[in-house]
Amino acid sequence: MKKVYVAMSADLVHPGHLNIINEARKLGDVTVGLLTDKAIASYKRVPYMTFEQRKVIIENIKGVKEVIPQTTLSYEPNLRLIKPDFVVHGDDWTEGIQQKIRQRVIEVLAEWGGKLIEVPYTKGISSTQLNANLKEIGTTPEIRLKRLKRLIAAKPIVRILESHSGLTGLICENIAININGKNEEFDGMWSSSLTDSTSKGKPDIEAVDLTSRLHSINDILECTTKPLIFDGDTGGKPEHFVFTVRTLERLGVSAIIIEDKVGLKKNSLFGNEVKQQQASVDEFCYKIEAGKKAQITNDFMIIARIESLICGKDINDAIMRAKIYVEAGADGIMIHSKEKSGSDIKEFCTKFREINTTTPIVVVPTTYNHINEDILESWGINIVIYANHMLRAAYPAMIKAAESILLNKRSLEADSICMPINEILSLIPGTK
Ligand code: SPV
Ligand code: MG
Repeated sequence: MKKVYVAMSADLVHPGHLNIINEARKLGDVTVGLLTDKAIASYKRVPYMTFEQRKVIIENIKGVKEVIPQTTLSYEPNLRLIKPDFVVHGDDWTEGIQQKIRQRVIEVLAEWGGKLIEVPYTKGISSTQLNANLKEIGTTPEIRLKRLKRLIAAKPIVRILESHSGLTGLICENIAININGKNEEFDGMWSSSLTDSTSKGKPDIEAVDLTSRLHSINDILECTTKPLIFDGDTGGKPEHFVFTVRTLERLGVSAIIIEDKVGLKKNSLFGNEVKQQQASVDEFCYKIEAGKKAQITNDFMIIARIESLICGKDINDAIMRAKIYVEAGADGIMIHSKEKSGSDIKEFCTKFREINTTTPIVVVPTTYNHINEDILESWGINIVIYANHMLRAAYPAMIKAAESILLNKRSLEADSICMPINEILSLIPGTK
């Protein structure tokens, strides 16, 4: 029997996949190279189904002899392993990022006389279309909740954008750009205490209560499918925190970040300009432990936010706390700073990674924002949160429009800085 190799993601399996496997089995024994979450995440969104779920489906398709993981976008390692006589693929990969991969498949196969067979693309159905339909249907709390951990495992760095309303949630959900064939988008939403309070005209001092915060996130959850990380401020009293954990978990929120502060909470970006008191290690650990005991799933994350650098303490204090918070059960560490250089964050991450290589590190680079994601990733950081940018971008634009109306006593001049009426009418599906 000849050997045939087919690579696929097989997330949303449709007749096009079956057609390719069908054509492949006419040529010999079919091995499917199933792309891992990591391989897929290197150029597009993490699949809906886990690798194991996708594997079970493909293994049970008639004509598939074996399923092996393909851990890179490149076919090369698996081709050299199997030395197939044929590779079968749809004929729709002659453009973009796929073009180079195709070329390399042809070259490598030629080394042992193998051939690429291209099957006409099945019209009328595609994963892209199915994906759009799925987004319309929405998601379940369970699938959404689990997604953050899967993203952390699959992506070099997870990119989170602040959202304080349904509309900003939709931006986070849908905005994507293509850079050299790679799809770039946000992986999830941050419900910021600063922007949620500010958009309600209230100070960021835990004055907006949980019920009100839940209303905001419900608006976001209703029109999105991506995971949400909740800014839990200090987490409140441990006796209250356990209820917050359960409520968020039930809604499908993936993680809460609580900061080790006590007393009247002030926004961290004030640093020592205002009175900020850090919690004792013991009392904060007690809160983490209480939260961990209260949660029902294994997937919900309680992330401990260390405010040492905000409160004027040194890196050693932050490292000491990180170590103890992880021992108390924290699923991740957020290290915060208002320094502009980012060097304190770098030092913390380097030191923390010497003693802990696995616990996810989260950062909020608002002040040290000249440091890009590639650099943050090289410091061992797993999640970057752009914590306030949707609100900060909207406010000056609104002020400009309001002032223009006052100045001109009409709205004509403001038109050029506003979105056209037909655009707002068609922005939200179902408006017509
Ligand atoms: C928030 O977005 O509310 C945060 C991050 O907690 S910061 O404002 O930098 O403290
Ligand atoms: Mg906050």
